[in-house]
Amino acid sequence: MIRTRSHDELKALAADVIRLSRLLTRERESLSAAYLKDRGLREAYEAYYLPPNLAKIQAPLRELAAHSGKLLDQDPLRVLDLGCGPGTAMLGVLEFFAAAKKRPRVEFTAVDQVAENLKMAGELVAAFKSTSELEASLKTIRSAIEQAPRLPETTFDLIILSNVLNEIFIHDEARIARRTALVADLLKRFLADDGSCIIIEPALRETARDLLAVRDGLVGAGFALYAPCLCHAACPALANPKDWCHEDLPWDEPELIQELDKLTGLRKDSLKFSCLVVRKDGKSLLDLYGENAFRVVSEPLVSKGKIEFYICGEAGRKLITRQDKDETQGNDVFGRLQRGDVVGFENLIDEGKRYKISKETRVVRRTLN
Ligand SMILES: C[S@@+](CC[C@H](N)C(=O)[O-])C[C@H]1O[C@@H](n2cnc3c(N)ncnc32)[C@H](O)[C@@H]1O
Repeated sequence: MIRTRSHDELKALAADVIRLSRLLTRERESLSAAYLKDRGLREAYEAYYLPPNLAKIQAPLRELAAHSGKLLDQDPLRVLDLGCGPGTAMLGVLEFFAAAKKRPRVEFTAVDQVAENLKMAGELVAAFKSTSELEASLKTIRSAIEQAPRLPETTFDLIILSNVLNEIFIHDEARIARRTALVADLLKRFLADDGSCIIIEPALRETARDLLAVRDGLVGAGFALYAPCLCHAACPALANPKDWCHEDLPWDEPELIQELDKLTGLRKDSLKFSCLVVRKDGKSLLDLYGENAFRVVSEPLVSKGKIEFYICGEAGRKLITRQDKDETQGNDVFGRLQRGDVVGFENLIDEGKRYKISKETRVVRRTLN
């Protein structure tokens, strides 16, 4: 909800944003279960974290919608948002369908342990509905996710855990095993056979690596990776403790967030997050792209005479190099690749530990329809 703030109000908000940011990063160890009961932190969340998080969910939604199997075509579309906070992911789903040609009726069920969040989610979803022509309903349930909430005995087409998994079992040494078991159990019970589960986590090394470990656990439990992974074996980024995997997408940073960035010294000028989409039916982004597809999983690494990236595909995660002298019209797109792009190659040289692009290599950036 947009409202004008005085300079003093803005400074107070910025102080709460800093307090919240510390809790979600450096001071994660002291994160209390119901930290969003604190009104200042809740307002900081709504102002500073909700807008980018709302935009993040649209990336996996786009990748699901691009599949020829009509993966988001259920009508009504039943969506379960676990740890909904102020309704962030639901607003993202609504915004996604408001811009889509096909607009299903969306039936949301939202779970959170903080009643004030559920109230805010109800207000924000109702406000969104009143300014769009979308049909949507919302049922809220106040409960801890781990306590198998009093969910209706039904299944959902979409289950969302947005920035919540890292807050569960946070002080437990066996947190990965417990999170994996929890998600697996929830999906077995509540995900429709043709449904999708989207998990979004912060792009911090620890939280992103934890998500990759849960990814491996879910694969071990029989779930299939839809996106963003194009490698279906054990996650290769886990082999080196320094590696992790995350998205970094451009976005139009709203004015209020730009001002808060200036006051706090934080940065929200792009969408950084780690993400996982799992299904039960084995459908995958590889159905769209074929086996010759790799995800760019690093920034460009530019050094004298060459440009390199890490890319990840069915054969794992490898460095790929193009020397400047080998640039041709057929591979010039390589120099413009960005983290998250999907790319295919012809005549790629596999040197074992890394790939090499020669003058004969053709590089094709794959885009979603
Ligand atoms: C960082 S916020 C994320 C909110 C929203 N999903 C988003 O992406 O912006 C985490 C939310 O999960 C809720 N939460 C944390 N642990 C929970 C648990 N064990 N059961 C239910 N809700 C929980 C918190 O109350 C908070 O609203």
